[in-house]
Amino acid sequence: MSFKDKVVFISGASSGIGAASAIEFTKEGANVVINGRNETKLKNVYQQCEKHGKKPVIIKADISKDDEAKAAIEETIKQFGKLDILVNNAGFTKPGSILDGNLLKSYDEVMGTNVRAAMHLTALAAPHLIKAKGNIVNVSSISGSSMPVKPQLISYCVSKAAIDHFTRCAALELSEHGVRVNAVSPGPVLTDFRRNAGIGEDITERENLTALKRISESIEIADLILFLASDKAKGITGSNYVSDNGCLIK
Ligand SMILES: NC(=O)c1ccc[n+]([C@@H]2O[C@H](COP(=O)([O-])OP(=O)(O)OC[C@H]3O[C@@H](n4cnc5c(N)ncnc54)[C@H](OP(=O)(O)O)[C@@H]3O)[C@@H](O)[C@H]2O)c1
Repeated sequence: MSFKDKVVFISGASSGIGAASAIEFTKEGANVVINGRNETKLKNVYQQCEKHGKKPVIIKADISKDDEAKAAIEETIKQFGKLDILVNNAGFTKPGSILDGNLLKSYDEVMGTNVRAAMHLTALAAPHLIKAKGNIVNVSSISGSSMPVKPQLISYCVSKAAIDHFTRCAALELSEHGVRVNAVSPGPVLTDFRRNAGIGEDITERENLTALKRISESIEIADLILFLASDKAKGITGSNYVSDNGCLIK
């Protein structure tokens, strides 16, 4: 799967799935733009990519802020003159449930990054993706289609359901311009996600949610993202690929 000289923008590439995707795209010859807010983590991913022969471009930006998202795509075009692949990966959860009084705060913040920013980046990138006949991969979650494990995750689940449908809508709109749009839906993956959300990481509890009794490594999801972004998937658009160790069949 060569991505030689393709330009790939990955939101939320300072850790976890985004970081693993940055490293895998770099190994395949891509020019990668790594976005996030945590400079130390971004520098760490930079060094890991560099070992594979290409230096990524770091764009520190909070993509939930419209001006920062716009500047991030503009900087990508300034650096490389084009954009072939957008990976809408940045995401987080902030607890909030109907009865705890935090529902709307959690909804606004989670939707602001997980959905609104992904839609905004898509709109900003679309003219460039059309020129390059490129594609988009959105990182969703099985939480978008399964029942929530905890009521506190309601906004997160709603955000991922929204991304699933946005993927189909965007795929239809952009199909006439030759741009594919797909999603991946991971089950449990071992990343900084839960630590960032202040949720404990009970590995056994999470393993028990899966039929295969295991949690994925980020690279497993990165491999799927690379497949969907590659020409091997040239006939795939509007699809949502699950990699969940059999969570949904339990
Ligand atoms: N881990 C799982 O079990 C799992 C399962 C299903 C789906 N997912 C999805 O996978 C995606 C990646 O999550 P992960 O598990 O790899 O977690 P992670 O290690 O916490 O990575 C999340 C990334 O998003 C970035 N981010 C968050 N808000 C941002 C913002 N406003 N602007 C820019 N970057 C932002 C973070 O960067 P900074 O902190 O540097 O800003 C970080 O790089 C998310 O969409 C998540 O919903 C994860």
